[in-house]
Amino acid sequence: MEVIITSDYDEMSVVAARIIRRQIIRKPNSVLGLATGGTPLGTYKELIRMHREEGLDFSKVTTFNLDEYLGLPPSHDQSYNYFMQENLFKHININPANVHVPNGMAEDIDGYCTWYENEIRKAGGIDLQLLGIGSDGHIAFNEPGSSLGSRTRLKTLAESTIKDNARFFARENDVPRFAITMGVGTILEAREILLIANGEKKAAVCAEFIEGPVTARVTASALQLHPRVYVVLDEAAASKLEHADYYRWVQQEKQKLSGIASQVSFLRRPVAKK
Ligand code: F6R
Repeated sequence: MEVIITSDYDEMSVVAARIIRRQIIRKPNSVLGLATGGTPLGTYKELIRMHREEGLDFSKVTTFNLDEYLGLPPSHDQSYNYFMQENLFKHININPANVHVPNGMAEDIDGYCTWYENEIRKAGGIDLQLLGIGSDGHIAFNEPGSSLGSRTRLKTLAESTIKDNARFFARENDVPRFAITMGVGTILEAREILLIANGEKKAAVCAEFIEGPVTARVTASALQLHPRVYVVLDEAAASKLEHADYYRWVQQEKQKLSGIASQVSFLRRPVAKK
């Protein structure tokens, strides 16, 4: 894992967007895995800016979202489909035919999940998967106890996730209890993974998944088994890491190496304050 500690949410967002931009420039027909929630909003804002001001081209990009609430149609303002349209897709030149968000209204759920997995395969697999992390350590909706080999399927949300996500709904009771979600096994097949987290609320779980044991209790810990993972944190989310100084040292030293420096310097260029 490459742990990149940034000063605040804005810098975290810009660094994450630069990693995504690098992927799209390297391979214009990239397949991106995307996440919803509060954390990636700044990253999407920066990608929209890159599209408008720098001409970052999404016309050949394909996307697959991690998850969707069961029972919410795309027109529902709390559906993840709606979230993606509002916060990214309608602002960039992506081809709607290349966008995939799980269908929360699917009737044959098992059949639909197999279809979703096949679509990812048919697209050539995910090149770069963006992830947030739940306060219980989930990636996508792989709640504690999910198999680390799991595939796209129906999951029951944990009580803590329902409470966390209640902030987006009028009442806690309105939060759906089920979601269609990529599995941990699906996520681990992405060629590269980018997990972002910010705020003190995520500090304990970040220490657990980065430095603790690989365990289904914290499904994000499975990322330790993947060879190419970037974890971009702000200071608050990094505050409980035992080896934070080492991660900072790695970033500093890498910049000194010619060759590698060109790979990492784009991440460390100062981020203009808004
Ligand atoms: C969303 C998703 C979830 C969130 C996680 C963190 O598509 O898969 O795993 O990334 O719940 O949510 P926020 O960013 O709202 O803290």
